[in-house]
Amino acid sequence: MAFEDRYGNQLTCSSEEAAAAYREGIDHLLGATYGAVEALSKATEIDPGFAIAQAGLARALMMAGDMKSAKEAITSAINNRATCSEREQLHVQVFEQLFANRAAEARRLAEAHLITFPRDALIAQLCSGVFGLIAFSGCAATEAQIRGFSSWLMPHYGDDWWMRGIHAVSLCETGQPDKALDLMELSLETNPRNANGAHFKAHALYEMNKPEAGLEYLSKWLTDYDKRSQLHGHLSWHVALWSMGLGDKKTMWSMIDENVGPGASLGLPINTATDTAAIYYRAELAGVEVAPERWQKLSQYVAEKFPNPGQSFVDIHSALSHAMAGNSAELAKFLDQPKGFAGNLVRSIAETWRLIVQQKWQEALTALTPVMSEHAKLGGSRAKRDMLEFTYLNLLLKLGKSSEAQRFIKTRRAAFTDSVPLAGWPG
Ligand SMILES: [Fe+2]
Repeated sequence: MAFEDRYGNQLTCSSEEAAAAYREGIDHLLGATYGAVEALSKATEIDPGFAIAQAGLARALMMAGDMKSAKEAITSAINNRATCSEREQLHVQVFEQLFANRAAEARRLAEAHLITFPRDALIAQLCSGVFGLIAFSGCAATEAQIRGFSSWLMPHYGDDWWMRGIHAVSLCETGQPDKALDLMELSLETNPRNANGAHFKAHALYEMNKPEAGLEYLSKWLTDYDKRSQLHGHLSWHVALWSMGLGDKKTMWSMIDENVGPGASLGLPINTATDTAAIYYRAELAGVEVAPERWQKLSQYVAEKFPNPGQSFVDIHSALSHAMAGNSAELAKFLDQPKGFAGNLVRSIAETWRLIVQQKWQEALTALTPVMSEHAKLGGSRAKRDMLEFTYLNLLLKLGKSSEAQRFIKTRRAAFTDSVPLAGWPG
């Protein structure tokens, strides 16, 4: 008897029960819903030789933050892959490279693999999105590359909810939020509890600067989303950000303290670190006071979780946390040791934070200026990188350059022209 995944790819396993558990686990990974580790563990317990399920389990454990168990699972997959199909062997090989921290090679293999097996969705997922292998490759054209990637895959997926969502976010991040929203609605019609879909819809509404509509939708959606799920902390960040922009500080702080910050979020450290730093600084820019103890706690957290530079998107947030906490020893690492896929940008941004804390506005503007044309190299979403856009605007206001600030926002983030969440705007 032949077994298949939800995309019609052959599965080398011993029973339909194991295949069903695999399909369930992969859907949890594609939808960022809770249950991937449980379902894929079940698949591998039913069939201990089910290599591709072991690779999926490794990915699920990685996304749950359990790297030790993840490495054990990928080792099992590697040991069992010899009897699998060609697709499954190559699939495991991609994850083998990923777990060996060879991101460029993992991407190369993944893209080659997808030419032959375009409906291998878990491999496609590795490359797509704002936290994927393309986004974190250090190229200034990653947004267009990701859209090209999803445009190429779309015809292979019909009306699949995951593919529609991932293509929609690539449209959103390349200046087409209207089209993105239409496609996202189709994705969510098929699977309304798909957290990636809800997340990307939030990004489309953010890009259209519709905070009331975004807050209403996402707040309700989040109510039924398991707190242990991958995106719970980050979706709470979106709610906190919109709440802050609309003047609801009570909801902003409750979201941060219950769902986003260190000790509250159950998500990955990359989300906890970057989301907390981003909401604290966006709040400060908007004129909301953030207690020094909060920055100090965050500085300690990122120093523990990310002791060395290397993940550039995280690094700019780590440097911010250390600068705001007055932790000059940790900040120095980002000034002195540019590493990672966008290390030079990290150094300039860390220098910007250092100068801002010293209220050296002109010097800070000078440090930040070369970053602005290429901060897409850092990866992450436009919503997240707006921290840099609004920091630049704030520096212009500090220097009394309000006309230049007006031109800047109109040329770069026009949707926000009339409602920049910045104290003193429009200057
Ligand atoms: Fe987001």
